[in-house]
Amino acid sequence: MNLKEIKEKYDALDNSMYGAKNIVDSLAMLYHENSKFNTHSMRKQGEKIYAFSNPYIFARSSQPFKCYPNAERIDLSVYQQELPEIDMFKIMRERRSLRTYNPEYKLSLNELNIILHQSYGVQEWSAPIGSENEGKFGLRNVPSGGGLYPLEMYVVVLNAHIPSGLYHFRPDQQSLEILKEGEFAQELLNMIQAEPYVKLGEASAVVITTGIIERVIMKYGDRGYRFLMQESGFVGMQVSLITEGIGLGSCMLGGYNDDFLNEFLGIDGVFETVNNVITIGGKPKS
Ligand SMILES: Cc1cc2nc3c(=O)[nH]c(=O)nc-3n(C[C@H](O)[C@H](O)[C@H](O)COP(=O)(O)O)c2cc1C
Repeated sequence: MNLKEIKEKYDALDNSMYGAKNIVDSLAMLYHENSKFNTHSMRKQGEKIYAFSNPYIFARSSQPFKCYPNAERIDLSVYQQELPEIDMFKIMRERRSLRTYNPEYKLSLNELNIILHQSYGVQEWSAPIGSENEGKFGLRNVPSGGGLYPLEMYVVVLNAHIPSGLYHFRPDQQSLEILKEGEFAQELLNMIQAEPYVKLGEASAVVITTGIIERVIMKYGDRGYRFLMQESGFVGMQVSLITEGIGLGSCMLGGYNDDFLNEFLGIDGVFETVNNVITIGGKPKS
């Protein structure tokens, strides 16, 4: 395949301002080409995928909950209140990235619970398809390739009704595991490109999601990485819409130093890596 030729043909269709030089040496294009399914690779991968129909394997692979056994926990379920009645289309229309926040806004535990539990918490326990292993398969509010749920969720609390610090969300328990307490706004600002445009220092929390690549490549091979990033988008969108739905605001941040942030979270940065950084805060007063 000659990418340059394809690109030139495409330019006539979308009036693109981008030159072929951007794609011929692109690692993204290389990855994309190499994770495409064709008749042969689909059949080959299909055998691996089929192995997951085995009830034992399915039940094991659908329990992807990272846990910190020695961490203290905060049970968020006890703070759960009635969910607000909202107009989904209105929320979709009104959601916009919010970059300045009310610095005095303290996030309630009900709000924290809604944001985390409704975006990626287990909502329902069901039996894996074809299995008698009832109640083992934790379904959530986002679709997930093969139900493998490769993401983990962390929250850096800056201003809420719990001590400021880094927490890990347990989707199966609707709880937070305390990883480290402290005021981390300045530390985050050193590794995330936020201010002057996004006032991270005024935000009440920063939600960070990571992906554990092995959970998907063991079933889908390299193509699994596409699924992981799709899911990261689903969860990011859920967080954005939910925050809008409860009267708060959020902004995704794409510019961060991966190694620094992975280290801050205490993760290896190879098998588990950051893929969403989202500031959350109260809307500014004026
Ligand atoms: C992956 C991703 C990364 C982003 N990174 C930043 C960022 O670093 N700084 C920022 O101000 N906005 C960032 N944004 C927000 C976009 O600028 C914003 O979504 C876009 O301009 C559309 O505006 P809206 O979200 O208000 O509809 C990011 C959005 C996405 C999806």
